[in-house]
Amino acid sequence: MIADRKDDHVRHAVNHRRNHSGGNDFDSVAFVHHALAGIDSADVRLGVDFAGKHWTSPLYVNAMTGGSTNTGEINRQLAVAARETGVPIASGSMSAYFRDPAVAGTFRVLREENPHGFVLANVNANATLDQVRSAIDLLEADALQIHVNSVQEVVMPEGDRAFAGWPRRIEEIVAGVPVPVIVKEVGFGLSRQTVTWLREAGVTVADVGGRGGTNFARIENDRRAGADFAFIEQWGQSTAACLLDCTGITGIDISASGGIRSPLDMARALALGAKATGVAGAFLETLVDHGTEALVAKITTWLDQLRNIMTVLGATTPAELTGRDVLVTGDLAGFCALRGID
Ligand code: FNR
Repeated sequence: MIADRKDDHVRHAVNHRRNHSGGNDFDSVAFVHHALAGIDSADVRLGVDFAGKHWTSPLYVNAMTGGSTNTGEINRQLAVAARETGVPIASGSMSAYFRDPAVAGTFRVLREENPHGFVLANVNANATLDQVRSAIDLLEADALQIHVNSVQEVVMPEGDRAFAGWPRRIEEIVAGVPVPVIVKEVGFGLSRQTVTWLREAGVTVADVGGRGGTNFARIENDRRAGADFAFIEQWGQSTAACLLDCTGITGIDISASGGIRSPLDMARALALGAKATGVAGAFLETLVDHGTEALVAKITTWLDQLRNIMTVLGATTPAELTGRDVLVTGDLAGFCALRGID
């Protein structure tokens, strides 16, 4: 049952990308071009200190899958691409492993193929401390992601309906694991209020996981005849809106995922205050349609192009992108006005 769901998620996520135009709020964020601001490309450094270690670039493969034969093979190929490009990689939710240890190999492959890479284990906010520790051990994980996905759960008939215990559980996990904790949404966004709460709970990174890319309400709609969650497809804040909402928050690192489609979107997210950027759907589509080598080429090209963008903008580090002149237009500007963001 879980294995079928994992296969369905991959299939529908890829189909949606093939069939939709893919516009999102990052289109409302434009850099102001200053023709004399450029620097030497050789002076650009893409590395960031993030989630407890030095990363060679501000990019990671976000949580997707594991739990079935097919998704184990996808994880193997994702892990090879992560190894070849040096980018960190997260597992999909390890609930399937908690229910059936026989599927351990479909997750463990992330570490086997990528023994020296930065690997993140992914769990839900109901997981017990023992389960979380076993997930970290299985992957020899460098960090832990906890996904908070109440909207996705309520659109799944078999999904959870009990969310009141999540804050307490997050606090317990943060206090009880030996690695940095990242809390992430899965495409509906984290608000300023939520991120501030996470900071007080001792969470290391908030991955805002906003609207604009993979949409689980749409995926769940398509998984079953007669389901109609159309009303919820527009739920939540876009990734760009979340980043703007979190402007000025200190004491917790912000990462951006949800609808990152290009190196320009990476640069936009970094300019809006993210310290790193995560990509799921765009990389999955390349992998499924064109294979591992194509994904390696794509990630390599994205990093080259990010370097070019930073060269033109005069940013020697990703952090220096933050605060570069940007214009915010359209509905996103309206969101900023309503939230009192300058
Ligand atoms: C996901 N995502 C996800 N997130 C998570 O925390 N645990 C999970 O198990 C999964 N599973 C999953 C499966 C598939 C097929 C996709 C495409 C995505 C969500 C993912 O990490 C990310 O938050 C969203 O997909 C938004 O990013 P993109 O896809 O727009 O780059």
